Amino acid sequence: MTDQPTSLAGLDLREEIDRLRMERNAVILAHYYQKPELQDLADFVGDSLELSKKAAETDADVIAFCGVKFMADTAKILSPEKIVVLPDMEAGCSLEDSCPPEKFAAFRERHPDHIALTYINCSTEVKALSDVIVTSSSAETILSQIPEDQKIIFGPDRHLGGYLNRKFGRDMLLWPGVCIVHEAFSERELLKLKAEHPEAPIAAHPECPPHIIDHADYVGSTSGILNFAKTFPGDTLIVATEPHIIHQMEKALPEKIFLGAPGADGNCNCNICPYMALNNLEKLYLCLRDLEPRIEIEEGLRLKARASLDRMLEMAAGTIGKGDLGRV
Ligand code: 13P
Ligand code: SF4
Repeated sequence: MTDQPTSLAGLDLREEIDRLRMERNAVILAHYYQKPELQDLADFVGDSLELSKKAAETDADVIAFCGVKFMADTAKILSPEKIVVLPDMEAGCSLEDSCPPEKFAAFRERHPDHIALTYINCSTEVKALSDVIVTSSSAETILSQIPEDQKIIFGPDRHLGGYLNRKFGRDMLLWPGVCIVHEAFSERELLKLKAEHPEAPIAAHPECPPHIIDHADYVGSTSGILNFAKTFPGDTLIVATEPHIIHQMEKALPEKIFLGAPGADGNCNCNICPYMALNNLEKLYLCLRDLEPRIEIEEGLRLKARASLDRMLEMAAGTIGKGDLGRV
């Protein structure tokens, strides 16, 4: 929109965002890995499954998605009549990048007797090539509904898939993708931190590699980890997932101590998701003002992707708020 001012100097961005939210009849959804200022002004903060449900249910005209692109794509797949904007279209995901649709299609063709159970952290094209989508909080419930003799391809996260294989004695064929954030946690640094706080349990996301999971007292989705933080009996918790989730923990339990698990040199920022970090207040304001950048999906592709997401929502019914994969 060319008639809009380009300088943001002097604007109270929070006030402007509130004004635009009303004017546009917009809902602001945010993932737990977003900057605290975005989490604080969102209408709803949640994990991937909860955010998908909110996107499917909302009666807003506009969804402003503070998260990464596959999450905003999911909102558009589920609510095609709505305008879905993402503050920064470059907010991708290493798991999505690891799984190009043409390679995934070829992999599926080489294994015609397998179904594809696919983590939601993938492109719309890969969703369209899949049978059922899972999130980390719905994977256990969904996998338990699939007969044990059914052969399964699980992609793109080999750590989540490996965790599920170990926990449920399954033999799913794993796509070799990883999350660059959870992959960066250092076992040596984690053990050093644990030695300093021997009484502190470790809560880990299942995207972590096995050498981190093996030390965890609790393994679960972001909402599962948050629930664990609210209920564990001690006063210090080590959190092995993206550290922006600690904002919600500190808000709910200001008297407790939450320590982010360290990356390779113990002091780097490699445990911060660089894609999630692209969103900020300025870009949220601009996307509400301009209704750009906007998610658009070709209808035939959307319908195919919708089928595998609908299967997830049906099979996951009843798991909202539980977010719990337990412990291997
Ligand atoms: P959750 O579904 O647990 O929120 O995970 C999303 C994600 O991208 C973790 O890296
Ligand atoms: Fe993707 Fe990892 Fe970032 Fe989650 S934390 S969005 S899996 S890169």
